[in-house]
Amino acid sequence: MAQAEKQKWFALSLAVIVPAVLIALAAFSIVRGEPNAPAQNELKVVGTIQLPEPKLDGAVSLEKALATRRSIRQFTDEKFTNKQISQLAWAGQGITEKTRGLRTAPSARATYPITLYLATHSGLYIYRPAQNDLMIKQSVDVRQKLAGRQNAIAKSGCTFIIASKVGNTTAKYGDRADKGAILEAGHIAQNILLEATAMGLGGVPIGGFDPNEVGKICDLPADMEPVYLIAVGVPAQQNK
Ligand SMILES: Cc1cc2nc3c(=O)[nH]c(=O)nc-3n(C[C@H](O)[C@H](O)[C@H](O)COP(=O)(O)O)c2cc1C
Repeated sequence: MAQAEKQKWFALSLAVIVPAVLIALAAFSIVRGEPNAPAQNELKVVGTIQLPEPKLDGAVSLEKALATRRSIRQFTDEKFTNKQISQLAWAGQGITEKTRGLRTAPSARATYPITLYLATHSGLYIYRPAQNDLMIKQSVDVRQKLAGRQNAIAKSGCTFIIASKVGNTTAKYGDRADKGAILEAGHIAQNILLEATAMGLGGVPIGGFDPNEVGKICDLPADMEPVYLIAVGVPAQQNK
């Protein structure tokens, strides 16, 4: 091949391969990261807490957890350890496939519009699946404020606020995406509730709350809304 011809092919391959590699890298980082989680610089974040690795095996079978799960609303007000919080958060949104960042709960087109906020005795946090840590939003106990008429929250060891990014998904897929995010919240909630049962804890899913009020308490970014709350605690008694 003549020198000029070789140079032409070299230039052409650069023009095709370089952009292709850049696009692939960008796509990969979007999948690996948390595309819909609020960016750290959008938040007043005080610091982070590294969580212990979750257990990937347990003594209670899935069938046993399914058979014994009940909505529990009365808790002892016992504090949760980071180990307990890690296990519950992992059940909801933990990474189970590192290459693509896939999680315990399914997500329409793996878009992951949900962010898990957590309210505990010691403050308000955001779970980051990829880092397996908690971003500290506030070191103030907001459980009582969050509870309103849902008393379970006030004495929970941890209440998960399942928040969905609305802007992005709506622009991309229309109403179906919002429905997708709500369905995804259901998957996440059930995972947390079954994990709580398997851990000897109790939990209740809560749809009865004022999203504006909860959004304000959690200082959610304008394009995020709370779709479901899950209060988990040490059961005070086994009733509904
Ligand atoms: C979408 C949804 C919203 C719910 N909202 C509330 C709620 O606001 N407060 C509450 O105490 N329980 C709530 N629950 C729990 C139900 O009351 C409970 O699942 C039902 O009574 C059946 O009992 P079980 O969960 O023990 O099987 C909700 C459940 C679902 C699925």
